[in-house]
Amino acid sequence: MWDYAGRDTAIDMGSATVRMHVKDRGVVCREPSLLARSRRTGQILALGLPAQQMAGRDSDVALVRPIREGAPTETDEAEYLMRHLVRRHHRRHYMARPRLVVTVPSGMTSVHYRALQFSAYQAGARRLTMVPTPIAAAIGMGMTEAGPEIAVIADIGADLTDVGVIAFGGLVTSHTAAVGGSDLDRAIVALVRREHGVTLSAAAAEEAKIAVGAVPCVGRQPIRQAPVDGRDATTGLPRRVVVTTTDVQRAIEGPVSKIVEAVHAGLRGCSPEVSGELLSVGVTLTGGTARLPGLERLIRDRTGLDAWLGDDTGDAAVIGAADVLRTAGLNPPVQDATSRPHLLTTVPQY
Ligand SMILES: Nc1ncnc2c1ncn2[C@@H]1O[C@H](COP(=O)(O)OP(=O)(O)OP(=O)(O)O)[C@@H](O)[C@H]1O
Ligand SMILES: [Mg+2]
Repeated sequence: MWDYAGRDTAIDMGSATVRMHVKDRGVVCREPSLLARSRRTGQILALGLPAQQMAGRDSDVALVRPIREGAPTETDEAEYLMRHLVRRHHRRHYMARPRLVVTVPSGMTSVHYRALQFSAYQAGARRLTMVPTPIAAAIGMGMTEAGPEIAVIADIGADLTDVGVIAFGGLVTSHTAAVGGSDLDRAIVALVRREHGVTLSAAAAEEAKIAVGAVPCVGRQPIRQAPVDGRDATTGLPRRVVVTTTDVQRAIEGPVSKIVEAVHAGLRGCSPEVSGELLSVGVTLTGGTARLPGLERLIRDRTGLDAWLGDDTGDAAVIGAADVLRTAGLNPPVQDATSRPHLLTTVPQY
């Protein structure tokens, strides 16, 4: 009967990518979390990939990133994005009211928590469950049991590094820091501007990072080169420069250290009992930025804990979130809607 209202749906509203999982269909969408809005009329013109393709092509088009640092900072646009994705991927789209589970940063403020709750109900949720990203990622990788076993996840995304120590299906301790892949992109833009006098778009810097990027000073790494196109800062004309692995390493040193510091901070809050266990458990890395070559080794060297890449698709959190609905049954515990989600939280509609 509930298929009529919409199949159970999980959404990972990332700062860079929104992912959606629909029951029995799997991950149905991975779209850039972007909207294109007309400056003149205020109308939304496109969302996701088509919106990204409009960047810089029409002076009337303003691109809006509704999710920053994992929170819906532009609530109307975040709601629009969620509503349209839910409708697009449900057969009876005009009346889709699925049970919805949304991943949230473990350190989300209650203001943003409420904003997301509001957006999700406006987007058609019949019932809403929020789950902190590290828990969702751990479930997605089949790492969590309901028992005392410890799992440590560091989800390193575009805007956030979210570290959680998990036991009994909940957070023992967690730490969220506002640093991630977009900081690396900005650092590359700044270096190329400083040293080559060329202004790059954030997308070009990201491409160079993915093509030749690696973590600084960890062992010997092959030096690779990538041509990137930008605008000459003096003449205003297009210019191509070649960016090397060494350039990227120099540029991203600062933000990479901040990411490692965030992992440190996430581990620091444990009791001595749990802390001792971490040595045998290690840290599992998820999120797009975890794929940066050498990052696991740097974390291993600086924390003394084993670290490895647990998910190179980026889908672990949304798959884990979907699993929450499957296993939590119809009546998971209801908590105060304003409290931050420590365990899984089902929030009532207000
Ligand atoms: N191979 C790669 N090497 C380095 N960085 C990568 C690679 N692939 C993706 N990224 C980076 O990962 C980031 C996106 O990761 P992810 O999809 O986990 O972020 P998000 O969930 O949208 O953001 P957040 O969790 O911070 O809200 C981008 O900054 C992207 O440039
Ligand atoms: Mg994410």
